[in-house]
Parts: sequence; C-alpha cells; structure tokens
Amino acid sequence: MKKIIIGNWKLNLDHLEAIQLLQKINYSLPESIEDNIEIVLSPSFTSIRSLQTVISSDKLKIKLSSQNVSQYSSGAYTGEISAAQLKKLEIEYAIVGHSERRTLFNEVDSVVNDKVNRLIDSDIVPIFCFGESIDERKSGTYLNFIENQIDEGLKGLRKDKVNKLVVAYEPIWAIGTGEVASLENIVEVLDYVKNIIKKKPFFNDDNIKFIYGGSVSPNNAEDILNSKIVDGALVGGASLDASKFIEIIKAVEL
Ligand code: PGA
Repeated sequence: MKKIIIGNWKLNLDHLEAIQLLQKINYSLPESIEDNIEIVLSPSFTSIRSLQTVISSDKLKIKLSSQNVSQYSSGAYTGEISAAQLKKLEIEYAIVGHSERRTLFNEVDSVVNDKVNRLIDSDIVPIFCFGESIDERKSGTYLNFIENQIDEGLKGLRKDKVNKLVVAYEPIWAIGTGEVASLENIVEVLDYVKNIIKKKPFFNDDNIKFIYGGSVSPNNAEDILNSKIVDGALVGGASLDASKFIEIIKAVEL
C-alpha cells in the first residue's frame, strides 16, 4: 500500500506564505517520491483556493486536505464550511476529530461522526483522528477509550459508500510535545484498532490506511514509517519547515 505523509499546518501561514511553502516543498521533491508516496498538505481554509490554483495550473501531484468541516450540509450555520464547498475546491481529504478540536472546541464523538458522514457523502476522504490522554494511558484504560472513540466516531458507515479512509492514531501526550510514542506503543494501538475495524461492515482490505501522528520528526520518521503496520504519518510542527518535511518523506523506504 502506498504510504501517505500529511502535513497539518494548523493555525499558521497566510495564503501567500502557504504558496511559498508549497513551492519550496514541491521544488525539493524528487519525482520518484511523488509517484510512490501520497503527499497531502492541510492548510487553513483561507489558503486552500490559492494552493489549489497552483497545484492545478502546475500539475503538481501534491494533494490538499482541510483541517475541519461542518457537521451540517447547508443552512443557517454562521461561520461553517461544508463538505460540498470543500469538494468544489478539489479537496481530497479532511481531518476530523483532531484532539485539538475535541479538547479545545468541545467536539464530541457524535459531532465527529456527523462530520465523517458528511465527508463521505461528498466523496472526501476523512482523516479520522483518535488517541488517548496521558491520564488514560497511565491508568491503563487507553485501549477501551480508543475502542469507544472508533465505535462512536465511525458509526453508521456503509461499505458501498466508504471508498477510502485514513485512521490516525494521535496520542494527545505526543502532540506538539516532542515526546514521540515508541514504536511498541504505536504497533500495539494500530494493531488493536485494525482488528476492531476489520469487523466493521465498511472494511475492505485496501481502502483504509492506518497512520501515526504526534511529534514525528526527521529523527524518528525512519523507524515509524518503515514499520509494516504504519501506512503513514500526520505531521504537525515539522511540516512547517520544508526541509524537515522533505526529510520525513525521504525516510520512507521505497
Ligand atoms: P505535531 O502535531 O507533529 O506537532 O506533534 C501532530 C498533529 O497534531 O497532527
């Protein structure tokens, strides 16, 4: 399965800075890599149109993701952005259930589930994030906690509608902290989650990618990305630096 590397730029960069970073990344990407690894950038909403214009006019192979989407399709929801609006901008992916949205913006599992369903209705691939806090890890309840997040967040998905899905293990204690999860931690959780998802009606062997996110950097990328069970990475901080992001991509053994 092709590995996927996603750069989550979070609340950084205006649209001009975003174009510059896209161009820097693209300039340093060897073609062989672009053909073998899926590269996805997730800028702020305000940069999506500009990046999409550059990508389509220069025929770049880099793909775009949004960082969020509305749980609603349309109507009186001031400030929201719908999946259909994103689809018109040729967005292929959207991050949902990121822990920053869950903890800072009170996104509960049912809201995450609505968002996943709206994306699938619009043929956008959800990058579904889940992961435990440090308390859940320490108390030993993290696998139960994660199982619940998966069951609730991916409820009601139908096989005939789910073409692709990215499932991202993002332990909260590893996000933006510099403290990366050990390969044993990652393998344990992804293996566990894969077994849960295998029993879901929407499962199909080659439509779901299982990835890791949380302090991925050039120092740890090689170990994580070349593990058989890890199909890719969701990279935050390091994706804002073109050379670090490229180093992470190059760490994938082709
Ligand atoms: P980080 O963020 O790489 O800065 O830890 C990862 C994420 O939030 O997706």
